[in-house]
Amino acid sequence: MTGSKQPDLDGFGIYEGISETIVTTMHDCSPNAAPIGIIRKGGRIFTRLFKGSNTYYNVHSEGYLVANVINDPVIFVRSTFSNLEESDFNFESVSGREFPVLKDALSWVVFECNNMKISHEALVAELLPIHAHINRSPVQAPNRGFNAVIEAAVHATRYQLSHDEKYLKLIHEYSAIVSKCGGEREKNAINILNEFLAK
Ligand SMILES: Cc1cc2nc3c(=O)[nH]c(=O)nc-3n(C[C@H](O)[C@H](O)[C@H](O)COP(=O)(O)O)c2cc1C
Repeated sequence: MTGSKQPDLDGFGIYEGISETIVTTMHDCSPNAAPIGIIRKGGRIFTRLFKGSNTYYNVHSEGYLVANVINDPVIFVRSTFSNLEESDFNFESVSGREFPVLKDALSWVVFECNNMKISHEALVAELLPIHAHINRSPVQAPNRGFNAVIEAAVHATRYQLSHDEKYLKLIHEYSAIVSKCGGEREKNAINILNEFLAK
């Protein structure tokens, strides 16, 4: 959908609270993907990007991002530790600009990033949805294994920054939940995560 009316984000899977999405951005003709939280609170939609990431740099220079809603745990882990392959992306034209989106996204929303506030550690941008699209809306019960992969990936990014062993202990605990409750995709994702950490 598009037009002057803003998309209703509930209909595209982005609800009140923090939605863990894969944000895709473009810079120098190459697409980038990273897990990023889209925050909806009290009528505001915004994101907080920590300094140093490609996403921070791309949003700062381009002023747009695409939030992809996705239920593939492997994509979450791969995009946390490395970039995805070119073949993981499609390119979509919106208002005369080309945006990278994930082929496997359930839905994606293009946001204009406004009123950027920059502190010494992060950038906070207000997000204005300008276009949204749904590919699929599967019926799916919550899976603790999937949630545990997301928690483990968050702790892995903290471990990479601090090298604090407490994060390895937490990742170990979440890995046990993945073995108990996850499907093949979740087990594959947690193995990839542990391989990245062992490097
Ligand atoms: C579930 C999840 C949510 C995340 N949310 C954010 C976020 O809201 N803001 C942020 O700056 N980093 C966030 N991160 C960390 C970035 O995804 C991570 O630093 C990533 O490597 C950045 O990749 P890039 O350099 O390609 O942008 C999150 C990581 C995970 C696993």
